[in-house]
Amino acid sequence: MFIWSNKFETKLDLVDTQHKNLFDLMNKLCVHIKNGTKSDAELDSAIRLLIHYSKTHLHDEELLMQDSQIDNRFFTRHRMEHNSFLYDVDRFSEFSTSDDSSTDKADKIVRFIAFWLIFHILGTDLVMAEQIACIKSGMTPQQAFETVKDQKLDSVTVKMMLDAVMNLWMDSKNAHANLEEKYKGLEIKCKNLQEKCTDLESKIQTVLVETIDYESDFRPFDLYK
Ligand SMILES: [Fe+2]
Repeated sequence: MFIWSNKFETKLDLVDTQHKNLFDLMNKLCVHIKNGTKSDAELDSAIRLLIHYSKTHLHDEELLMQDSQIDNRFFTRHRMEHNSFLYDVDRFSEFSTSDDSSTDKADKIVRFIAFWLIFHILGTDLVMAEQIACIKSGMTPQQAFETVKDQKLDSVTVKMMLDAVMNLWMDSKNAHANLEEKYKGLEIKCKNLQEKCTDLESKIQTVLVETIDYESDFRPFDLYK
């Protein structure tokens, strides 16, 4: 379960509502994953909804930044983070389909989205919210950018971000180990196949040689002698 904290609040109604909805969707999925209360098809559909809602949320955040005329340096970096997330989520959907059960796949995607989101809210969305607040109070986007860019994070926020990064890192390490294991298995299968091919080639060669020998010994006219 992923606990909502007031540390995540940006004080932007749309953003906070969507972030809370994302937590809600992820926690409902966690319960179903733990209790096994959804069929594979239902789990897949719940994941698709979560991914779709995440994408909609990121798009809405970008529109909000554009409407607020936030400094382009920040907008570009923020959008790059969103694009990196979208890329990873799509790759997740492609790669975890092969061997993973729907439950494993759901678990991995939920964990990735949750820890990415926690890190992103604390490290980037809150900075966005502060800049938007500064712009609303009369600063230019450039002044807002300069004002908030060097602000220090409190120790609780830093710890929450570190926890999120550690979880992302551990999951990525496990995924890497699984891939390595699968690669080794494929290497062994490939080697066995190569050996069978060599064996088959030599059998074909033997049969061919025997056939040629038979044909060279065969004299059709001998039959009529
Ligand atoms: Fe964001």
